[in-house]
Amino acid sequence: MTDGPLRIAIVGAGGISRRHRTALLAMPESARLVSVCDASEDAAQALATSVPDPVATFNNHLRMLEAGGFDVAIVALPHVLHFPVAKDFVEAGIPILVEKPLTCTLDETRELRALSRRFKVPVVAGQTQRFNREGFWLRKWVQEAPLGFGALRSFDIHAWQNLPGYLYGTLGLPNGADHWLLDGKRAGGGVVISIAVHQLDLVRFITGLNYAEVMATGQYEAPFYNGAESSAVVLLKMDNGSAGSLHANYLAVRTPYNEAMHLFGEHGTIVQHAEQIGQYHGPLSFSSDGGRPATAWADMYQGFERLPESDLANLSPDPFFNQLDAFVQAIRRGCEPANNIDENFNTMACIQAIYESLSSGRPATVASA
Ligand SMILES: NC(=O)c1ccc[n+]([C@@H]2O[C@H](COP(=O)([O-])OP(=O)(O)OC[C@H]3O[C@@H](n4cnc5c(N)ncnc54)[C@H](O)[C@@H]3O)[C@@H](O)[C@H]2O)c1
Repeated sequence: MTDGPLRIAIVGAGGISRRHRTALLAMPESARLVSVCDASEDAAQALATSVPDPVATFNNHLRMLEAGGFDVAIVALPHVLHFPVAKDFVEAGIPILVEKPLTCTLDETRELRALSRRFKVPVVAGQTQRFNREGFWLRKWVQEAPLGFGALRSFDIHAWQNLPGYLYGTLGLPNGADHWLLDGKRAGGGVVISIAVHQLDLVRFITGLNYAEVMATGQYEAPFYNGAESSAVVLLKMDNGSAGSLHANYLAVRTPYNEAMHLFGEHGTIVQHAEQIGQYHGPLSFSSDGGRPATAWADMYQGFERLPESDLANLSPDPFFNQLDAFVQAIRRGCEPANNIDENFNTMACIQAIYESLSSGRPATVASA
């Protein structure tokens, strides 16, 4: 490892790597992009030439590994490639931040975890929403101020997108063209693994609880194929006995990308409002009885507050910056990074259980190891 900024490689120079690039450019003292790999040479070139320093480009990650010259890597590929590519980097001793979902199956997560332990190479799951500064504040409020929220009692989460509208409208693909997100084999599934994974993971992050059991039902409508669910509704039971529901829909026609949640605790409620167009997620608000249950009718509804700006001042409004900063600082100090593969395990185990339940029509237990 060099004394200067950590040298970063990016594998997969598609849409989300531009967010990683922007985060990198905002921390020139701690990180520098030095190598880019994409199967499309044009995509690799476009990303490489969008930063001021010279960047090596490759169209094959094994050739990138052979050339070396970087300290850590970000893997941002179609989901089915996460595991095989991540495995090659771990075996080569390179710490990696792998975009969500970490892998497509729980067996792959288990194998990657074994390799990470054997080679002592950190593997981090890119669950970027954990690095929204609002999420940090809520986690503190829920886990450190028990009279503010108290124990989780029930919750609901939503993840809605008009994916065909995004592909053929926003991205400008020809109408009806294929895309890996439509294909259950290349995406590892449909709306649950591709976008609901964010909210499923965020509930764990905010509450500190894990999933224990699920029961799911869903639909498989065109243009999704190879077993990619276009929608799913899931009952979720946490390890403290509380229950929640997920409503995920990839065919939410005339709806902007939209995530929302309600968390109901012993003393308070958290609401992540549906997204407003152009934002990463909707604003959060909260209300608490502060441990003094209301007795008068006028006190029953105490109103919701937005998070105070002053509490958010220490973190960047860009979650990709916070995520990369945490990763880079941990590697530099030789510590285990936040949201490593062990921490991500229950999220991947929950996704696996949802797919088991979708296919069997019966409840499924979330694996604990
Ligand atoms: N954290 C977030 O908020 C967030 C948001 C969007 C996407 N993502 C995740 O980021 C990842 C990438 O998504 P995206 O939207 O950038 O996809 P994308 O399709 O825009 O980019 C994927 C890139 O991988 C390249 N590629 C395909 N096969 C390859 C191979 N064998 N070797 C090298 N390159 C190859 C493609 O050419 C393409 O440029 C996914 O895991 C996705 O779920 C995360």
